[in-house]
Amino acid sequence: MHVQQQISLKSYNTFGIDMPAAYFTEVTKPEDIEALATLQQPVHVLGGGSNILLSAPVHGTVVRNCLKGIAKTAENDTHIWLQVSAGEVWHELVMYVVANGWGGVENLALIPGTVGAAPIQNIGAYGVEVKDVLTEVSFYHLENKAFVTLPAEACRFGYRDSIFKNELRGKVFITAVTLMLTKKPVFNTSYGAIEQELQAMGVQELTVAAIAQAVMNIRSSKLPDPKVTGNAGSFFKNPTITTAQYEQLVTEHEGMPHFPAGEGMVKVPAAWLIEQCGWKGYRRGDAGVHNRQALVLVNYGGASGGEVWQLSGDIVASVQERFGITLEREVQVW
Ligand code: EPU
Repeated sequence: MHVQQQISLKSYNTFGIDMPAAYFTEVTKPEDIEALATLQQPVHVLGGGSNILLSAPVHGTVVRNCLKGIAKTAENDTHIWLQVSAGEVWHELVMYVVANGWGGVENLALIPGTVGAAPIQNIGAYGVEVKDVLTEVSFYHLENKAFVTLPAEACRFGYRDSIFKNELRGKVFITAVTLMLTKKPVFNTSYGAIEQELQAMGVQELTVAAIAQAVMNIRSSKLPDPKVTGNAGSFFKNPTITTAQYEQLVTEHEGMPHFPAGEGMVKVPAAWLIEQCGWKGYRRGDAGVHNRQALVLVNYGGASGGEVWQLSGDIVASVQERFGITLEREVQVW
C-alpha cells in the first residue's frame, strides 16, 4: 500500500470541505487488508465520502475502501444472491441490478456513496431501506484482527442506524455485503411522488427500470448534485416523537405533517421543522440550507467544516426552541 502524507480530503468528501489527513492510503485488493494494522492509528475508513462532515484535521490514517467485484453466490427460481465488494459505487450496482430486471433496490437509485457504506447508516429512500434486501455484512475487525461475517439479524438495523454506527463504530473495515434480490419484483410505488412521476413519464407497464428512473427524476429535481454544490444528502434524521407530543404540537402548529412510526410514535419531517424556522434557502458565507430541500445543508464552495457545523447547531437550537424537538445529525462528523 502506498501511504501519502498531509493530503487534502477535498476531493474525497461530497461536501467539498478542504481538510487535511495526516496519512492517506487506499485498499484496492484483499491482501491489503491485514496491513491495516501496520498503519498510523487510528484508521478512518472512507467510502464515497457522501455522509461525512470534516470538522477538524484528521489524525491517523484515512483509508479509502476501493475493493471491487460483484459475484453471484446463490440462485433459485425466485431469488438471486449477490456478494458485492464494499468499494463498488452504490448507484452503479443499482443500475447493474436493474439492467438484469432483478428487484429490491430500484427505489434506492441515485443514492450517493459506496456499497460498503450502505449498511452503516442503513441507507433508505422511497419506502425501502437496504436492510430489506441485505442478508450479510462481511468485515475485518481492526482490533481483533479477524475476518467476520455478520448476518443481517445481528446488524441491529434501525432508521439510519446499525451496529456499525454504535458498538462497532471505528472498529471495522467492511469488505463486502450480500444482497438477496428477487426475480419476480414486488413494486413499491406508494411513497411520495413515485406514482405521480410514473404517470408523468407515461409508464404503462411497471418495471424495475421504470421505478428506478422515476426515483432518479424525483431525486434530481429536489436534491443538489454534489458535483455542482457540495452536500451530504439529509443532514439530520427525521425525529420520532410520541403521538401525545404530536397532538399537543399540532394544536399550536396547524398542518404539521407526520408519518406513522410504530405503536404510539410518529415521525415528523425535519425538513418541515427547519423550513418553519425560516432556514430554507438561508445562506451564511458559503454554508447554507438548500432552497428545494431544507434537510440538506450545502457548501457553495469555500465553507469550512466548522462553518457548516456552526450552522447546523443554530438550526438544532431554533427547532428546539420553537418545537421542543431535538434534531439529531444524520451525517457522521469527523
Ligand atoms: N418538507 C418540507 N420542506 C422541505 C422538504 C420537505 O416541509 O424543504 C416536508 C414535506 O412535508 C414532505 C416531507 O417533508 O412531505 C418529506 O420530504 P421528502 O419526501 O423530501 O423526504 P425527507 O423526509 O425530507 C427522507 C430521507 C431522504 C430520502 C427521502 C425520500 C431522511 C433523513 N431522509 O427525506 O434520504 O431520499 O426521505 O425517501 O430520512 C438521505 O438520507 O441522505 C436522504 C436524502
